[in-house]
Amino acid sequence: MNYISMNLVTMFYLIASVCFIQALKGLSSPATARTGNAFGMSGMAIATITTVALIFKLQAQAASSGGLGFTLVLIGVVVGGGIGAFAAKKVEMTKMPELVAAMHSLIGLAAVCIAVAVVAEPWVFQITTQGVALPFGNRLELFIGTFVGAVTFSGSVIAFGKLSGKYKFRLFQGAPVSFPGQHMLNLGIAIALIALGLVFCFAPGVEPAWTPFIIMAVLAFILGVLIIIPIGGADMPVVVSMLNSYSGWAAAGIGFSLNNSMLIIAGSLVGSSGAILSYIMCKAMNRSFFNVILGGFGGDPAAAATGGAQEQRPVKSGSADDAAFIMSNAETVIIVPGYGLAVARAQHSLKELVEKLTHKGVIVKYAIHPVAGRMPGHMNVLLAEAEVPYDQVFEMEDINGEFGQTDVVLVLGANDVVNPAAKDPKSPIAGMPILEAYKAKSIIVNKRSMASGYAGLDNDLFYQANTMMVFGDAKKVIEAMVKAVD
Ligand code: TAP
Repeated sequence: MNYISMNLVTMFYLIASVCFIQALKGLSSPATARTGNAFGMSGMAIATITTVALIFKLQAQAASSGGLGFTLVLIGVVVGGGIGAFAAKKVEMTKMPELVAAMHSLIGLAAVCIAVAVVAEPWVFQITTQGVALPFGNRLELFIGTFVGAVTFSGSVIAFGKLSGKYKFRLFQGAPVSFPGQHMLNLGIAIALIALGLVFCFAPGVEPAWTPFIIMAVLAFILGVLIIIPIGGADMPVVVSMLNSYSGWAAAGIGFSLNNSMLIIAGSLVGSSGAILSYIMCKAMNRSFFNVILGGFGGDPAAAATGGAQEQRPVKSGSADDAAFIMSNAETVIIVPGYGLAVARAQHSLKELVEKLTHKGVIVKYAIHPVAGRMPGHMNVLLAEAEVPYDQVFEMEDINGEFGQTDVVLVLGANDVVNPAAKDPKSPIAGMPILEAYKAKSIIVNKRSMASGYAGLDNDLFYQANTMMVFGDAKKVIEAMVKAVD
């Protein structure tokens, strides 16, 4: 029987790699994101089918094979793929970060399981022949792959718990968990891991040195928990992106051990893009990466307890009808969407409102802050879902100069991303780039109450003399505006 040749495997892996690179390129702009996704899905389908064909070939070649291994692989593909498809279809957009965290934990665990299997029986993976010790290079790759995988697994589980916010378990609460000597403990574990690595890599004999390997795996699981618990809930999206990067490097490490170029390429792409994304998010919040990792920002228990401790200052409030009247009579309107718009799922009604205003001759633009919402590109995805034309959507640096000449800014469920406190050097969000809505001639803000945003801070924009608050759920308020514009 003719099985897939190694040349064909290499060619299909190359095609899949090109698809992944095209996917990343496409995902860099909302206009090309769908094409990027299509490339990503095609690349993953090609890589999976090729790998299954390769396993089938290796199984058939192995003298001891009874075929059970291949059946298990197929069951894994069907069950895992089914669960993944179901979860992705069911998940609400605002719950996406926790789904991503859950999936990263599985990648980490998979890396650990594969590494354990390779250490136990390297000859099955054609790394050595039976009775020959694992070479130093493979031991090092497996040790690092297991370590990164274990940290990714337990860290992602904690990130998942913190993001979902529905579990009572203390380590799953948004508030940071810290204790005296925490950093020293982490350092101690890191030093112990290096020592264990040396013992494992230089151990004599054919049998693997299981004791240092197992102690390392246990310590790495503990370290993953210890690294993530002191980080506040508000920084979790950055942490998820960082864990995303770790999971990629874990996969790449295992790819080296298995001599699988596809895993090396895909893992490196995930690893580097996750690291770049973490950097972009930190920059958009004006935080250093170390400040995020060692900080605890956004999870301040005091702020959480007071709900952000708003001052009792008078605000001007109006109805949806008032807001519709003001916008209908304006020449220019800029809309600032935020997390609340996503919660209310009001994007379709918003598009209708904008169409009506545009029909009346009003020039309407959307202004997108890079960290509006709860995940990178959240607002772009939301607006794309409602098929808002891309030429109406502007990134922060392209539109910030226009607020000063704009008649009306409509802030919908956004708070931190328009908070002028960022200009105050003493504020916890000092230096965070914001959409300069406060410069507009009139400002209309829709939210349900005077509650603070994710950073737990009061917002001076709401108290400005030219600001009108329209309280209520974004969907209901926008629907009322649509009726009033008619
Ligand atoms: P937030 O500052 O979190 O404010 C959202 C506002 O929406 C809240 O003040 C809330 O006020 C309102 N809201 C909630 N449900 C609503 C509904 N159904 N209808 C109307 N309003 C509703 O959001 P933002 O301005 O988008 O800023 C995002 C925050 O997340 C920033 O602090 C950012 O640093 C942080 N963050 C984001 C990311 C990414 S990648 N996006 C990553 C890390 C951190 P009420 O409760 O009064 O309605």
